[in-house]
Formats: sequence, structure tokens, C-alpha cells
Amino acid sequence: MKEDDNLAPKVANEEASGSCNPGKSNPSKHDKESQKDYGDGPEYWDLRYKEDPEPFEWLRSYSDLKDFICCDKSADILHVGCGNSCLTEEMYDEGYRNIINIDNSPVVITQMIERNMDRPEMLWLEMDALAMPLPSNAFDLVIDKSLMDTFACAEEMPLTIITYLMEVARVLRTGGLFLVVSYGAPAQRLAP
Ligand SMILES: C[S@@+](CC[C@H](N)C(=O)[O-])C[C@H]1O[C@@H](n2cnc3c(N)ncnc32)[C@H](O)[C@@H]1O
Repeated sequence: MKEDDNLAPKVANEEASGSCNPGKSNPSKHDKESQKDYGDGPEYWDLRYKEDPEPFEWLRSYSDLKDFICCDKSADILHVGCGNSCLTEEMYDEGYRNIINIDNSPVVITQMIERNMDRPEMLWLEMDALAMPLPSNAFDLVIDKSLMDTFACAEEMPLTIITYLMEVARVLRTGGLFLVVSYGAPAQRLAP
């Protein structure tokens, strides 16, 4: 990736509806960060979420993705690297109930638990997506919105992504779906 091809967040801006209203963050604030920071563990993300706790939507919002998330409302859904995205809050408000959100930043998980007190059936867990203490064959849908991009910035990139994909394959049920929303074009993310 070129330097200016960075993971600059696309804010799902003022058009978002409901109680979750991203767009108050200032994307330019983070423009000068090194991409390497993104893949270097929770320290970078903890700091970022402490400094900027406002909802911040990477790449695409729920309204953009809704047509791709066409599963039964009772489906078991895992949202990996949830950050403070509004995605699953909006899904919950539309009737999805069995949603587990994970992120390895304890700061953002604490913030999301507080923000979602009125959505008691949805879980927020501090967890490493590379080693998930979750049962195998447990989910119908795994949603990754820019977590793979984060791993693409990691120092041990190929090993990290292989480990991650094996974990996702393990927790998905047969016939389950893995939805990846990525900054990278298919040639960058799907190439052998
Ligand atoms: C680019 S942000 C995307 C946040 C959110 N999915 C969104 O679309 O707005 C990447 C997120 O992945 C989290 N993350 C990074 N490495 C992780 C790991 N090994 N396990 C779980 N989450 C991780 C970061 O803390 C951060 O919240």
C-alpha cells in the first residue's frame, strides 16, 4: 500500500440515524499516524479510544451493508474487532439479538458496555481475534469491518492473517458466512 493509501477512516457521518450517531470524530486528527501502529497490539487502539471516545465508523455503515447482512434475526453473529462502530447497535435495534462483539482493546470494550446498557442481550468482550476462547461451530455469521486491514499492517502479517482465518473458520458453522469489509481491493486481500 502507498503511504497515502492508508486506512483513513470513512466516517459514516451525520446521515446515520438512531441513538448511535457517528461522525463527530475528526478523521484528519489521525492522518499522520503510521499504518504500522494499527497492527501493533492494543496499546495504540487503547490510546486512540481514550483520546477520542466518540463513535467512529470505518469504511461503511450499517445502511451501506444491510443488503449483505441478510440472515435470520435469530442467527448467531460474531463481530470481530468491533471498535466503537455503530454497526451492531443498529442491527440490534432492527431485531438481531444473538450478537457477540469482541475487541482486544479493553478501553473500547468498557466504553461499549457503558454505551449499550439498554441493549442487554448483546455482549461486548475483550478478546483477541487470533485466539478466541469461543466454542467451535458456534456462529452463522462473522463480521469483520477493517480488522483484516489492521492485521495487514502487522509486522508478522502472513502468519497473523493465517492464524486469524483459521480461528474464524473454526468458530463458523458449516455454511456460515464470513463478511469482510476491507479497504484493500480483492487482489490485495484474496491473493494467495
Ligand atoms: C480499523 S478498527 C475497525 C473498528 C470497527 N470494526 C469499525 O468498523 O469501525 C480495528 C479494530 O480492531 C481491533 N483489533 C486489532 N487487533 C485485534 C485483535 N487481535 N483482536 C481483536 N480486535 C483487534 C482494534 O482495537 C480496533 O478497534
